[in-house]
Amino acid sequence: MPSSVMPTTNSGTGPRASAAVTALGLRKSYGDKTVLDGIDLRIPAGSVFALLGPNGAGKTTTVKILSTLVSADGGQAQVAGHDLAADPQAVRAAIGVTGQFSAVDGLITGEENMLLMADLHLIPRPAGRRIAAELLERFGLTDAAKKPAATYSGGMKRRLDIAMTLIGSPRIIFLDEPTTGLDPRSRHTMWQIIRELVTGGVTVLLTTQYLEEADQLADRIAVLHHGTLAAEGTAEELKRLVPGGHVRLRFTHPDTYRDAATALPHSTRDDDALTLRAPSDGSQRDLRALLDRLDTAGLQADHLTVHTPDLDDVFLALTGDTTTPTPTTRPHQPDQSKETAR
Ligand SMILES: Nc1ncnc2c1ncn2[C@@H]1O[C@H](COP(=O)(O)OP(=O)(O)OP(=O)(O)O)[C@@H](O)[C@H]1O
Ligand SMILES: [Mg+2]
Repeated sequence: MPSSVMPTTNSGTGPRASAAVTALGLRKSYGDKTVLDGIDLRIPAGSVFALLGPNGAGKTTTVKILSTLVSADGGQAQVAGHDLAADPQAVRAAIGVTGQFSAVDGLITGEENMLLMADLHLIPRPAGRRIAAELLERFGLTDAAKKPAATYSGGMKRRLDIAMTLIGSPRIIFLDEPTTGLDPRSRHTMWQIIRELVTGGVTVLLTTQYLEEADQLADRIAVLHHGTLAAEGTAEELKRLVPGGHVRLRFTHPDTYRDAATALPHSTRDDDALTLRAPSDGSQRDLRALLDRLDTAGLQADHLTVHTPDLDDVFLALTGDTTTPTPTTRPHQPDQSKETAR
């Protein structure tokens, strides 16, 4: 993957899983603005792939190209085994798309929106009614089914949007910012829905502004910046790209603290707090080596915390946002560290 800053490694569904989506050298310009400058993607079947990037990075453009809504200026892609340029009809038949902006018609009811979609898929009316009812039930919309969609909350509309996408039982779905604007509870519900889809074998390409969302859901993540993929990998791989990982060790007794500082010469000392900060990538091997050094010296920390960079750090580092503190100085939230009281 030439546009990646790191090699793709085995993970998630594994390299041998057949690809639901592959793209090679995708290009797209609007006027003299290059939006995509050679994008390579490989999304294994049955996995979740998250496309991250700042506003205007080209996420929606990528989704639109892969779902045949706009054509690329260059490059090639296969979706569900069909060539995008040669057989767009076959691609369309295999996919479902939930756009960044709702496709829900507010003037008609949720149920009518679903039936309209069933008609578009040429599903016979009785089967359409059954599928619509099942999906409305699954998405917790049965009670609201007969009400105009304009009266739905944002979360309900988004659920209806995705339910409409699933009418044709697509094996590959594109979700462009599925949870933007949703409250935390609705976001978690949506994550659950996406996880269930993937458990059922569906492949999901989603775009998101929420790095936690990518962290929670995605097998692999790509960061789009300046028309290319600045990085691609698992969340863990991406986090290892940025510096700032460390282990913080706190001691109660000054003697132990002093001896530990000697045993861990590369650590930064905080003599007042009797705390050492040892650089670490947070990997099992690295932690074991560090603890072995303490064990060898017969020392035990009273409290130990592992701080790994989070995806926010990765995003800011890769997309070059200099208005926010750099990853190395940015304080980490407690819930982003793995705590181990010793
Ligand atoms: N139809 C169009 N005509 C001209 N420019 C366009 C068109 N569609 C997109 N663009 C431009 O292409 C760039 C990428 O847009 P795109 O919508 O793909 O970004 P995005 O990553 O989805 O952003 P956001 O996070 O805001 O949704 C932007 O600069 C946008 O203005
Ligand atoms: Mg967009």
